[in-house]
Amino acid sequence: MFLEDKLRCWYYYYANTQKEPFPMKSPLEEVTHTDNIKLSDDGRSVVIIDQTLLPNRLEYIALTTREEMFEAIAMLRVRGAPAIGICAGYCAYCLALQAPHDSFDDFYDHWVEDCRYLNGSRPTAVNLSWALNRMLDAAEDHRDMPVEAVLSALKRECLAIHSEDMEMCRKISEYGLSLLHDGDGVLTHCNAGPLATSRYGTGQGPLFLARERGMDIRVFADETRPLLQGARLTSFELYNAGVDVTLICDSMASIVMKNGWVQCCMVGCDRVAANGDTANKIGTSGVAILAKHYGIPFYVLGPTSTIDMSCTTGEDINIELRDGEEIRSRFFAEPVALPDVKCYNPAFDVTDNSLISAIITEKGICRPPYSESLKKLFEDQPL
Ligand code: MRU
Repeated sequence: MFLEDKLRCWYYYYANTQKEPFPMKSPLEEVTHTDNIKLSDDGRSVVIIDQTLLPNRLEYIALTTREEMFEAIAMLRVRGAPAIGICAGYCAYCLALQAPHDSFDDFYDHWVEDCRYLNGSRPTAVNLSWALNRMLDAAEDHRDMPVEAVLSALKRECLAIHSEDMEMCRKISEYGLSLLHDGDGVLTHCNAGPLATSRYGTGQGPLFLARERGMDIRVFADETRPLLQGARLTSFELYNAGVDVTLICDSMASIVMKNGWVQCCMVGCDRVAANGDTANKIGTSGVAILAKHYGIPFYVLGPTSTIDMSCTTGEDINIELRDGEEIRSRFFAEPVALPDVKCYNPAFDVTDNSLISAIITEKGICRPPYSESLKKLFEDQPL
């Protein structure tokens, strides 16, 4: 239910009965504490907000079969690296419920195949394989127990992935907020808010927290062509939360920086290599290059689950190529290009570590050289 409808119901009920029908969240809480991914009431399907319909329609869909799950991730109905990981955990659990339960080996062989299939839905965000591997490890740890016990362990694991993400986002947002000052202008790209995670977000988490703390922050949201996550999702979330947000086309980032309106850039990430090279939504590296030109700090925010120490540099990151139709016709009433014109549509680009002022994680703020500071994160050493 949209907030306006909810408010109308609330006031109507209160005016007639003088009783509160349900506790009302503040507009900010409505955004930061959204239930974007959850198990269905019967616990056998995954229920998600279909992000492709926003901001015009807020609709939940249930994913039950592995094909529905694959399609939802591939078509960006659920998207954003941490959200993909959370969703994959729940999907793996629901598929485990459908697998044969006669013996561990029968169960596992069938279910591993489902997990492999899901893992092929999107290649760049490491959180997908990270979450699926966590689920596989949880099952392996219980291989000597009855399949019922394995299923209980898998349920605990997917709920843990979700609740840990909430905790991580909160910490990332706190660390990110420590880099902001009252009156700052912040430029952001793509969507790394609550819809892309669990709560608050990563790249946009500090902006919601700033609002919660009464700070005066002004945000410029890149629309983020071709799938418009910035326009459809980021400006929707920030506006509804009462943050001062201005939507700009990607090509306008330079002028707002030149005008002196941007004091820092904050973005999320899909995979960070061991040397700090960072894959994020296409266009991010251009923003970082502009920021360097204008002497503006460029911050990447993300959980340690998005850091892939097995990738030595950004060269090792697999960049997803998507259908050219997304450029030619998606989100337009009529196509904006000829049907047969060639299109190149990479979904992500890699920002060179030399352009990144800091990488903000739930464990603290990493500074260059990243090959040292990121390593310390995983060795639990002080940064
Ligand atoms: O293709 P998308 O919409 O899944 O890309 C999302 C991004 O690039 C986000 O910035 C990233 O996943 C971080 S989300 C907290």
